[in-house]
Amino acid sequence: MKLFYLYFFLLICNPFLLRAQSINKIAPIIPQPTTVNYGNGSVELIIDNIVVQKGNEEIKKLAKFYATLFKKPNAPIVEAEKIQIQKAKNIYLFIVERRNEPDRYKIQVTASGIIVEASQVKGLFYALQTLTQLVELSFENTTEKIKLPTIIIEDQPRFNYRGMHLDVARHFFPVSFIKQYIDLLARFKFNTFHWHLTDDQGWRIEIKKYPELTNVGAYRKETLIGHYTDSPVKYDGKEYGGFYTQDQIKEIVQYAADRYITIIPEIEMPGHASAAIAAYPIFGCTGGPYEVQTTWGVFSDVFCTKDTTLTFLKDVLNEVCDLFPGKYIHIGGDECPKEKWKACPSCQRVRLRQNLKTEDQLQSYFIKEIEKYLNRKGKKMIGWDEILEGGLAPNATVMSWRGEKGGIEAATSKHDVVMTPGSHCYFDHYQSNYKKEPLAFGGYTPISKVYQYEPIPASLDPKFHQYILGAQGNVWTEYMDNERKVIYMAFPRAMALAEALWCKPEEKNYGKFLERLQIHMPWFKTRKMALTPAFGELQYQLVHNDSGMTVKFERAPIPGKVLVEFEEGNNFRQDYPLGDSIVLSANSKLKAWYMFEDNSLCKPVSIEYNQHKAVGKSIQFIETPSPKYFGAANSIINGIKAPSNKYSGPEWIGMEGNDFNSILNLNQSQSLSQVKIQLFHFPAAWIYLPKEIKIEGSNDGKTFQTIETWKLPENVSGKYLEAEIKINKPINAQYIQITALNHGMIQQGQAGAGHKAWLFVGELTVE
Ligand code: ACM
Ligand code: ZN
Repeated sequence: MKLFYLYFFLLICNPFLLRAQSINKIAPIIPQPTTVNYGNGSVELIIDNIVVQKGNEEIKKLAKFYATLFKKPNAPIVEAEKIQIQKAKNIYLFIVERRNEPDRYKIQVTASGIIVEASQVKGLFYALQTLTQLVELSFENTTEKIKLPTIIIEDQPRFNYRGMHLDVARHFFPVSFIKQYIDLLARFKFNTFHWHLTDDQGWRIEIKKYPELTNVGAYRKETLIGHYTDSPVKYDGKEYGGFYTQDQIKEIVQYAADRYITIIPEIEMPGHASAAIAAYPIFGCTGGPYEVQTTWGVFSDVFCTKDTTLTFLKDVLNEVCDLFPGKYIHIGGDECPKEKWKACPSCQRVRLRQNLKTEDQLQSYFIKEIEKYLNRKGKKMIGWDEILEGGLAPNATVMSWRGEKGGIEAATSKHDVVMTPGSHCYFDHYQSNYKKEPLAFGGYTPISKVYQYEPIPASLDPKFHQYILGAQGNVWTEYMDNERKVIYMAFPRAMALAEALWCKPEEKNYGKFLERLQIHMPWFKTRKMALTPAFGELQYQLVHNDSGMTVKFERAPIPGKVLVEFEEGNNFRQDYPLGDSIVLSANSKLKAWYMFEDNSLCKPVSIEYNQHKAVGKSIQFIETPSPKYFGAANSIINGIKAPSNKYSGPEWIGMEGNDFNSILNLNQSQSLSQVKIQLFHFPAAWIYLPKEIKIEGSNDGKTFQTIETWKLPENVSGKYLEAEIKINKPINAQYIQITALNHGMIQQGQAGAGHKAWLFVGELTVE
């Protein structure tokens, strides 16, 4: 409790907060409550007593916990049968059950006290989170007094599963940080913490029966520096590791439970098992020796499917089930290469004994055995969407990470689903285009995209909607080696997800969310949690017309205006575009900002426009790009290069397993000297360069003749390549057909083995 005092002292004396108050005339609650009704004026927060429902120990505990919030750490806690407004100024915490609305709560801030009612104590807890944000961020809050608006808030969540994940295998974080993370989740009303405890790079949970899991499996000899696709790769030469004792786990489970958060522990199997088999090589197919991995990715040595491995894993799960009282145990199931199983006599014996045809079915058998065990222990099994392959275990819940497909398939077969697609819910992706964003896995998932996420897939038949429990944000820590970076990557995107899960679609408003988010930013800063300065970066669209390329800046949701700076040789020219758009008619380099009313700027976006023969012309796709990575057809002939450091965003288009094949129409026959094609190469994300590119020309759009062919050079390194295809003989053509041949099936031992590769194409420059 002393700590809470200090916390409030710091809060109250904080200059950032005072600035926030001066601009703040709204209740800046995230996630936005269902209804907020303001009365007239405000009331000073004076609390004489905390009145709680008689005989409810859980409410009493909550009241003690939150007494400091009302500047009354020693306020008497008084029991009463029912709410009876008295002369004294009290806060009332009562249960008023509404069966169909178990998470509902209501807060009434009145001149004669604060009345809080909820269907369950959990709802009172959510109400107290709302009040905490109101007290800390709203209106007047000084050392002497707190003023609150007279307000009535009625609130309940849309989804029952509101999750955040944290990977502690790639990097390990101490108990103190896990508690801080849980506090942040509770603040934004998440109710599930998915704790990824084991992986190739470390086993992080003490198992009494198998001490080598942590003696050996919790430590790796060194760690990769930089990105794992860098060439050459570099290592730091330092031993790294750590684990949680069972006592620490119990402490954290209780800490989370006190905040109405359930922990789902994840024990990875049968893949991502290097740390476990390094400790106990007998549970691999070859007997080892194996190493705790020092780099990231997918590794071919996995758990052997023989009976003794299953017995070992059931023993491990036995201890895990005893430590975690929640109903779910996560067993991973993702990214398991099967080549070792194909060559392993033990695995093949199991396959034949069980009458199985394929190794996918062998994985399915393995997972089903684990499910039977967990069900006998009274637990439910949850796994990544690969557990669908070879046949889904009968009672399993599926976490859909490879897009929405797995989730749709599972829901359609009446299995519960948690949505966590990489496109919207992976917070290890870049969050802005700001050049100084620290190293991340790849991709581009800005907060606007997270906010717009709708967990119910549009194509899912309404009769299966009930199986979508909710969604989860994932924080994989390959490139987060310290606590500050985890916070930096997870927030504020987790707040956008919190709102996407709490509110109904019609209650969401991105502009109003950003307005509230601005008020939360100083709160993080005061607590030394740095967030990206570019969280609300300017988004824009490019539209071609007769006078050139028009850049249309998205009207920002917060009052202010766009500022543009053109680079002209060594000079800079600043401009405030009228109507938030500018026209580019020649090669140009510019930066654009959003300037808020208080003169602060968000980070600039840079635009480099390169006029060439295909800009603004038309393009026809013979092979259809994936809708997941396809902004607009003309994005690859708009004079703007796709970024070389990441594969997502509006400038790249992605082909899922197929070739790239398109026909450009230049409107009239033109002489051609060169075609350049931007390409991405990122095997970790299943993206491969094409094997070959063919350029063909035509003047009637029907008969094409080959102009040039490009072959993939050997030993290409790095993630990005621009194929420059010089056209040596003079040629004129109105139509150009460009065909890039997909890499094809991904090899064993690589991420996505056995699936077809993605092919990413950026700007097609025609000169
Ligand atoms: C995952 O990202 N491999 C679940
Ligand atoms: Zn085997």
